[in-house]
Amino acid sequence: VQISFKTFDGKTHEVEAEPGATIMEIARDNGIEGIDADCGGQCACATCHVFIDAEWQSKLDERSEMEGDMLECSTIVRATSRLSCQIPVTPALDGMVVELPEFQE
Ligand code: FES
Repeated sequence: VQISFKTFDGKTHEVEAEPGATIMEIARDNGIEGIDADCGGQCACATCHVFIDAEWQSKLDERSEMEGDMLECSTIVRATSRLSCQIPVTPALDGMVVELPEFQE
């Protein structure tokens, strides 16, 4: 499954991802800058914040209540905001573009 990470500096990093891992883990394991993931994937820190276009959002599970609550606390939240640790990689996500914010907060 190929996932493209677009970092804030405008660079695109294409990464081969195994289904089962989360987008946060894929980014972290490939040294993609822009994700802190302080809580290690517990949906408790919101420092794995990413933006995913509506076109791809429709292929994802909806935000859980907890994910929505975490994102609401963020000042950089957009309609396309997601927590990358809550998104498991599936074959349906082949080619997905994940945009990273300038910083996590
Ligand atoms: Fe902490 Fe995703 S890693 S909420």
